[in-house]
Amino acid sequence: MNDVMLQCHNLVKVYREGPQDLTVLDQLSLEVRAGERVAIVGTSGSGKTTLLNLLGGLDSPSSGDVRIAGKSLLGLSETAKGTFRNRHIGFVYQFHHLLAEFTAIENVAMPLIIRGQTRAQAKVRAVELLGQVGMQARGEHKPGELSGGERQRVAIARALVTDPSLVLMDEPTGNLDQTTAANILRLMDGIAENSKSAFVIVTHDPALAAHQDRILHLDNGRLTQTP
Ligand SMILES: Nc1ncnc2c1ncn2[C@@H]1O[C@H](COP(=O)(O)OP(=O)(O)O)[C@@H](O)[C@H]1O
Ligand SMILES: [Mg+2]
Repeated sequence: MNDVMLQCHNLVKVYREGPQDLTVLDQLSLEVRAGERVAIVGTSGSGKTTLLNLLGGLDSPSSGDVRIAGKSLLGLSETAKGTFRNRHIGFVYQFHHLLAEFTAIENVAMPLIIRGQTRAQAKVRAVELLGQVGMQARGEHKPGELSGGERQRVAIARALVTDPSLVLMDEPTGNLDQTTAANILRLMDGIAENSKSAFVIVTHDPALAAHQDRILHLDNGRLTQTP
């Protein structure tokens, strides 16, 4: 359990906008061990989504490196990064990013099909995961037919279906009412207890943050731990 799952060192992200540079992440370092659960909090615009996108290889740092399971994301081609993500990372986006033309089952099965499982195999596992998030009755529905909370639960099932060693979540309960958020919190607790996945969860939700092993504040481009 002491293996380092995620490591980034002196991570810098500068957005260049015309004559003005915006330094969002400034020599940020972070280490997350296998199975560890970390919450990241910070004001709006502090760079939380930017950081998660870098950790998940969806965007590249201006300098510094991200290593996941000992492997550097630097210098991987987009295709290699995609394969690596599919193998190791589950991502829950701030806005669910489900595929509108596919059903809930198909959305959740997709990462497994990309991995090379047959449609039938992938579907069985997708149905199982949808059951775990309390969505077994809605498997044949498309995202447009689901509520915000239901879509978010499908997105969480999709992120977890591959048993990823690292789960990155960007405000997973951000757009949900309190009751739905509380349900998702309980659900994530159950899943985290039964899996060895490391979690990095960006959240404004104090209850969700308090459920993690550590809470880190993103401020002025760096992370600090609450005492
Ligand atoms: N693609 C981009 N180009 C330029 N500026 C960006 C881009 N993405 C984010 N920013 C800016 O970077 C800062 C951090 O944004 P973000 O990571 O979305 O913050 P948070 O998720 O904490 O609200 C904001 O000031 C935002 O306007
Ligand atoms: Mg954000």
